[in-house]
Amino acid sequence: MKRLLVLAAAVTGLWANAQGYPGSKPIAIVVPFAAGGPTDRVARDLAVALRKTLPGGHFVIENVNGAGGTIGATKVAKANPDGHTLLLWHIGMASTVSLYRKLQFKPLDDFEYLGIVNDVPMTLIGKPQLPATNYRDFENYIRANGGKLNIAHAGLGSASHLCGLMWQSAVNAKEAMTTIPFGGTAPAMTALVAGQVDVMCDQTTNTTAQIESGRVKAFAVTTAGRLASPPLLKDYPSLQEVGLKGFSLTIWHGLYAPKGTPAPVLRQLNEALKRALKNPELIRKQEALGALVVTDQRMEPAGHKAFVAAEIAKFKPLIEAAGKFAD
Ligand code: MLT
Repeated sequence: MKRLLVLAAAVTGLWANAQGYPGSKPIAIVVPFAAGGPTDRVARDLAVALRKTLPGGHFVIENVNGAGGTIGATKVAKANPDGHTLLLWHIGMASTVSLYRKLQFKPLDDFEYLGIVNDVPMTLIGKPQLPATNYRDFENYIRANGGKLNIAHAGLGSASHLCGLMWQSAVNAKEAMTTIPFGGTAPAMTALVAGQVDVMCDQTTNTTAQIESGRVKAFAVTTAGRLASPPLLKDYPSLQEVGLKGFSLTIWHGLYAPKGTPAPVLRQLNEALKRALKNPELIRKQEALGALVVTDQRMEPAGHKAFVAAEIAKFKPLIEAAGKFAD
């Protein structure tokens, strides 16, 4: 079916219409998680900037959650390659290929790479009732009680799932915590704040406000070193600082189109993305939540694709080592 769509586009001259792109049809940015979470936040902030840099571009956000983001990613991989269905996804593009035996798409073959958008740190957080006020107490509590506690995430292959696996593996918890999957870390955060789940590892774009308000407890950040922004998060140690040698996890988000999208359309989208990433308002919004808009060669399609290929190779052994903590 997909090949027919690409053929039809070529035969019927849709490619010629690339000059008329984007036209009046909305451009859907598929977010493969529930609304209100960190991926959704990046997509909505980016869409505001893209509406200014792609004249006539009517960007809408479409949340398609489930299975750690792979349902939404599959929808885009199989979509009509006319430039009106895009995907905003994070490290899942590189991690899920090592976590799912039957993935419905090939990360490096079924997408056109439009550029990386940002880098986002993660924070290890707990429900307010958790009996720990610093990382050391937190780790000791989990080591002793892990088997009786649960950790929330956004589905197999989500950033929150991967972080939980890597962290439990690094602390060598006696027993794995029970993992509780949600359609995204927005609903997971609601459950954590309500004390219905015990622990989560999530992106600062979703956790900063909750930490600031005291609705959750924070214990550490997942980047190699401490964060410089926002000021609130400077006080939390990195996991390396508290003894987890070599632990470093930063989430990146990339923008994709289905394979076979016409080259002139891809060029227009990549140019619009690069201009959007220079938008001072987008940069400010992201930095206030601990995220950094990219300024390096990953903004280019070739740099984006090479980076994802390297991340696939990097995550494979990490996932295999941590896999024993997966349910
Ligand atoms: C993740 O855990 O992969 C994301 O934070 C989920 C989300 O964006 O909701």
